[in-house]
Amino acid sequence: MREKPPRPTAAERAVADLLPINADPEAARKLIGRVPLWFHTFNLDHSAKDLYTPGVARDHRYRIPAIPEDFSGLSVLDVGAFDGFYAFLAEHRGARRVVAIDNEQYRAWVRSRWGVELEGGEGFDAIRQQLGSRAEYRRLDAFEMERLEERFDFVFCFGILHRVENPLGLLRAMRACLNEGGRVLLETYGVTEPELKESSAIRVYGRGEVYAGDDYVFWGFSPAGLDELAAHAGYESFELFDTPLIDGHPRLIGTLVAASASAAARRARGFSDSH
Ligand SMILES: C[S@@+](CC[C@H](N)C(=O)[O-])C[C@H]1O[C@@H](n2cnc3c(N)ncnc32)[C@H](O)[C@@H]1O
Repeated sequence: MREKPPRPTAAERAVADLLPINADPEAARKLIGRVPLWFHTFNLDHSAKDLYTPGVARDHRYRIPAIPEDFSGLSVLDVGAFDGFYAFLAEHRGARRVVAIDNEQYRAWVRSRWGVELEGGEGFDAIRQQLGSRAEYRRLDAFEMERLEERFDFVFCFGILHRVENPLGLLRAMRACLNEGGRVLLETYGVTEPELKESSAIRVYGRGEVYAGDDYVFWGFSPAGLDELAAHAGYESFELFDTPLIDGHPRLIGTLVAASASAAARRARGFSDSH
């Protein structure tokens, strides 16, 4: 049976309040109605705080302390952006360039979970227009991000690593798009079993096991597993930030750091000296 899209939670409204949008109430109501299903909650009437998009994402508060307060001068890529809340937040916090990509895989699970047909990109577009934002949206698979022919200082990779068939490939693709010293803020699905939490094993979830009607959650990761994957993908380190349990769902958030050219050269020298 299909779920009814829930009302936005107080938790998600608190996240939405970080991004001020000042639409007049009439325009805000129209904007909300233009999009058949919202993933992100946006506060459209910042002063009154009573017109929110009805986002289905439940509670992203745990992400907020890991997001920089200041993006001044940075170029930012949001991978798997959906409605783009984090892309717009980065722009609001001073990013000089913001690109959001999504292959719109969500259309399939939104259809099977809620019975709602989306064209793709309509939430992002509505908010971009309302904000007068310069953030760019591309319908693009993350594995083809090199087609952007651009490198970034900061990449958001939220809610997607557990949804791709080749997670190591995605980490490599993002690494190749980073400027020297750049970083990826990574949030993904974790594991609850104590023996898996301590090991580098990757848990394979069954079809619909994590969210009924959503067949696109494949993997659960542990910090040690991400450490190993990060090393394979050419990152300097994976710095774990938190492993919260949100509504019974284990989440994991941390930063993948690309080696600066000098650190990479030092490592290469050390490697050739001793081998
Ligand atoms: C659960 S949503 C997360 C949205 C947002 N990043 C967040 O965490 O708030 C996962 C998003 O990743 C997108 N996605 C999944 N696989 C992708 C791929 N291979 N390339 C680009 N986007 C992808 C989905 O279409 C969806 O928008």
